[in-house]
Amino acid sequence: MLTLGVTFATVVGWWVLASWAKPKLPYPPGPKGLPFIGNVLDIDPQAPRPTYAQWSKTYGDIVYIRIFGQDIIIVNSEKTARILADGRSEIYSDRYRSSVYKHFGTSRVTFVLEYGKEWKTHRKLFHLSLRNDVVGRYNDLHLNHARQLSENILRDNSNSFEHLDLYANAIITELVYGRRVEGKDDPVFVMASALTEVLNKEVTADRIGLVKVMPFLLHLPSWFPGAGFKRKARQCRKLATEMVDLPFAMAKDELERGVLPHCMISDMLKQGGVEESSAKAAVSSTASVLKTIMLVMILHPDVQDKVHAELDTVVGRGTIPTFADRPRLPYLQAVLYEVMRWNPPASLGLPHATTTSDIYEGYYIPKGTLVHFIFANRAMKDHGYDDPDRFDPTRHLTPDGQLSPESRQHNLIFYGFGKRVCPGRFFADHSIWAATAVIMSTLKFGKAKDSSGKYIEVEPIFPNGLISCPAPFSCSVTSRPVE
Ligand code: HEM
Repeated sequence: MLTLGVTFATVVGWWVLASWAKPKLPYPPGPKGLPFIGNVLDIDPQAPRPTYAQWSKTYGDIVYIRIFGQDIIIVNSEKTARILADGRSEIYSDRYRSSVYKHFGTSRVTFVLEYGKEWKTHRKLFHLSLRNDVVGRYNDLHLNHARQLSENILRDNSNSFEHLDLYANAIITELVYGRRVEGKDDPVFVMASALTEVLNKEVTADRIGLVKVMPFLLHLPSWFPGAGFKRKARQCRKLATEMVDLPFAMAKDELERGVLPHCMISDMLKQGGVEESSAKAAVSSTASVLKTIMLVMILHPDVQDKVHAELDTVVGRGTIPTFADRPRLPYLQAVLYEVMRWNPPASLGLPHATTTSDIYEGYYIPKGTLVHFIFANRAMKDHGYDDPDRFDPTRHLTPDGQLSPESRQHNLIFYGFGKRVCPGRFFADHSIWAATAVIMSTLKFGKAKDSSGKYIEVEPIFPNGLISCPAPFSCSVTSRPVE
């Protein structure tokens, strides 16, 4: 009897407390979820974008959902994103904390670090080496690798995607560790590729969600049904440690011998007082942008012709462009802006999390809410692009063929918001420009033919994933001889 009384009192107490603690203000509008599981059945985890787009039409700029007790808001307009992420950055700069990261050995990667001391140290280091006024020092690095890329594609175009991955990885390795990567057999490249593959497959939103609901999975033996990922986690932890320690030790040794070229590690070690781990994180979605550029050139031969014509007129046929030519190539730049708009590489961004509760336009946003700033749906709602699915670089040009003043500003949203904005954005922008300018000045892309001589049609397919990268496609590549 006593037990029943205690249980009853506890339940009533919990109910009173829960009602009392309930916010007096409403949550932002959003679809009603089911008890306990919330909105989990409303979203296809493999393809959440169409649902987000539909919700944005129904509920507006800010949509509230709940999944297994986790508060989530989806922000669909740049104006609201700027108010929250930029204007209230002390509240909106955290990340979701999951023990999955620690299990896979990635808990100290900048992307997932909580808003605190270690994260600030990482950002200081990125700023030191990659801010807008210093990235120009890497221009030769980009151009040298871009020339190599063009040669690789021409020599062996059946593996163009692999060459583009190598380009993106090689420049990052050289940027961070000062090490020249000569080919796809380079040990650091092999390790980086293996690690990226495991992380993409295993550290997914579904897995993080599953562990949130069933945290005991992490403590079960790996033979237990549902806990098999623990084997992969062990392998991934080992790879992550090797990936970080080996090239770092090599760079440190070279610095001591006075032979380390300028790189992020040298900046960091010379600066002093900065933790070693700060330089151990740099990932690139550059390759997916370059793959989309190749795809676009095949789908839109008229765009490719215009890029070639501009390069021939401004730089001269047979001359490799340099960064000094960049301001005189507005059409090429407009193509790059359009590629980012048409297929934003990180279209769902990386969710931020709130460190305290907040009130926005009369709505209550709890502490610990996950905040998705969405730049899918062919760029955010308030940019109002006409016929947004159409690929059209002239959107970014004035009637006299110059870049429109707001085009650069709009392009920046694809690198995120607030204090978590991508610190590699200026470097990435240079890498993409160099690769495109060099391959377009030297190569021409077209449809491949099958064994019976018929053209193989190319479909723009973008499998879902954190990074929106086109599915592999066949193409023909020819060099552009000097006329
Ligand atoms: C086309 C290429 C790239 C795109 C589109 C891109 C985009 C992004 C986006 C959307 C975020 C999340 C921003 C947010 O949370 O609001 C991000 C974060 C980040 N990016 Fe990039 N990125 C690119 C290349 C790079 C490169 C080349 C580097 C390094 C050299 C880099 C380093 C980082 C880091 C360290 C973060 C985590 C920042 C933090 O959590 O504080 N990115 N990037």
